[in-house]
Amino acid sequence: MPKHDSVIQRTAPVERRVDAIQAVLEERDVKAAETLGELRHLAQEQWIPQNGARVVAKAWVDPAFRKRLLADGRAAVAELGFSMPKHHRHLVVLENSPTVQNVICCTQCSCTAFTLIGLPPDWYKDLEYRARIVRESRTVLREMGLDLPAEIEIRVWDTTADTRYMVLPMRPPETAGWPEEKLIGIVTRDSMIGVARL
Ligand SMILES: [Fe+2]
Repeated sequence: MPKHDSVIQRTAPVERRVDAIQAVLEERDVKAAETLGELRHLAQEQWIPQNGARVVAKAWVDPAFRKRLLADGRAAVAELGFSMPKHHRHLVVLENSPTVQNVICCTQCSCTAFTLIGLPPDWYKDLEYRARIVRESRTVLREMGLDLPAEIEIRVWDTTADTRYMVLPMRPPETAGWPEEKLIGIVTRDSMIGVARL
């Protein structure tokens, strides 16, 4: 179990929540099974962090793509075949550097660019993370296993309904010369939220 999961209260996984909603709707004779089945399929099979990992790996190997990604995230991910819901009007990609660590949160609820980085993990939705990552980001990151030296600036970005964020982690130096497919395999969801470095 990751270190941070132990300190933040866990909620039911998405499958159990979908089941619960489905049970209530069926009780009331609403024919929701099909819609919910589709939602479950999307959540489990298509809205996965590997999408974001593909975007990151492409940005690492293709400087022109990286430039387009930083200028207009939504348009750039569409080049790779990734769509975002209409109401996610902007995708802002935040590039980490040796001196800057970007971290995303949603202080209001639990918004993420979920079609790219997957549905938010339980701890991301927890009130404790949402409040403390803003007020004491360095301490929270340390508790989650990312102990950053004081000279690294931490920038926290608060998601809104229409602006979604994704962190572009730094490419580890030991991956020089790796093919794109292999690079995809090392990019984690947490690195795209900004609570981990690679
Ligand atoms: Fe939210």
